[in-house]
Amino acid sequence: MPTVLAVETSCDETSVAIVKDNEILSNVVLSQISIHAPFGGVVPELAARHHLKNLPVIFDQAVKQAKIDLLALDAVAVTVGPGLIGALLVGLSFAKGLSLALKKPLIGVNHLLGHVYAAKLAYPTLSTPFIALIVSGGHTELMYFSEDFLKPKVLGRTVDDAAGEAFDKVARLLDAGYPGGPAIEKLAKTGDPNKFDFPKALMEKGNLNFSFAGLKTAVLYTLSKNPNVSKKDVAASFQKAVVEVLVEKTVSAAKQERCRRIVVSGGVAANELLRLEFEKKAQELGLEIYIPPKSLCTDNAAMIARAGVELFEREMFCNLDVNADPNLSF
Ligand code: KG4
Ligand code: ZN
Repeated sequence: MPTVLAVETSCDETSVAIVKDNEILSNVVLSQISIHAPFGGVVPELAARHHLKNLPVIFDQAVKQAKIDLLALDAVAVTVGPGLIGALLVGLSFAKGLSLALKKPLIGVNHLLGHVYAAKLAYPTLSTPFIALIVSGGHTELMYFSEDFLKPKVLGRTVDDAAGEAFDKVARLLDAGYPGGPAIEKLAKTGDPNKFDFPKALMEKGNLNFSFAGLKTAVLYTLSKNPNVSKKDVAASFQKAVVEVLVEKTVSAAKQERCRRIVVSGGVAANELLRLEFEKKAQELGLEIYIPPKSLCTDNAAMIARAGVELFEREMFCNLDVNADPNLSF
């Protein structure tokens, strides 16, 4: 049962966690929302600077909360990509320093794999085969894990904006606040989801790619044509369109691969409507749905540490010359 400390700084959350096998000993997450909110999106340079400032403090908190001696750690894991290059480099440098000082092996983790492992933390008995939908600010990936947790087949991905990016951009159009996902979700609560029939792209049978750019443009046209339109109705109709696409394509993927198990993770998986619609579909079609609690869906280091546990067991370590890769994929 290895104990792994992980560092996650790929975007705008500074996080350090310590995980022992499937048990989270600590998972400290500091969001930079208030720093980036005035700009309506993440400013990469500011993100990196704040990671640099906050990482030592977050690290101390995580170690104190876990109540373990640092020498009891088996390894140091860190997100090496994908993400913002400056932000990634801050976390990677910090983790390399720790690895060197503690004489513990260093493990480089793909952030997307971390999102998948959030489900393993929440559901320790989860095993392959399963379909995974990872929906975040930077990614919308539909994958099939047939046997190995580390080697998925990519079934589809977005050809333009990620689902979370669409939420963030539409929130900006609606002047709803940042980050866009929770802001749209709040507005949509009292809106009419059937008021606007926004387009759903690439819905032809067999196409498991996603496209959200047209949907965003449709919202823009609707707003410019009717300046007095109810923002709540626009938000609710937009959210419904995104959720329908995500659920329909994931279910198609499950049918295509004859797989009854579905994992949904990433920031957008914190969305209530998405969670509800997946649960409904699961009941209707007899599927098993695994969606981690919200705190493990959005960026956090516990999911990176859990992926690190798996990599540790396979002795997949990296050298101190490992570099960050902002475009890392599977
Ligand atoms: O996974 P994550 O924390 O960071 C990335 O790896 O990108 O995802 C952040 C994204 C943002 O685009 C945010 O607007 C979206 O997830 N998000 C949501 C919700 N909470 C966060 N989208 C829809 N509904 C939510 N409740
Ligand atoms: Zn993420």
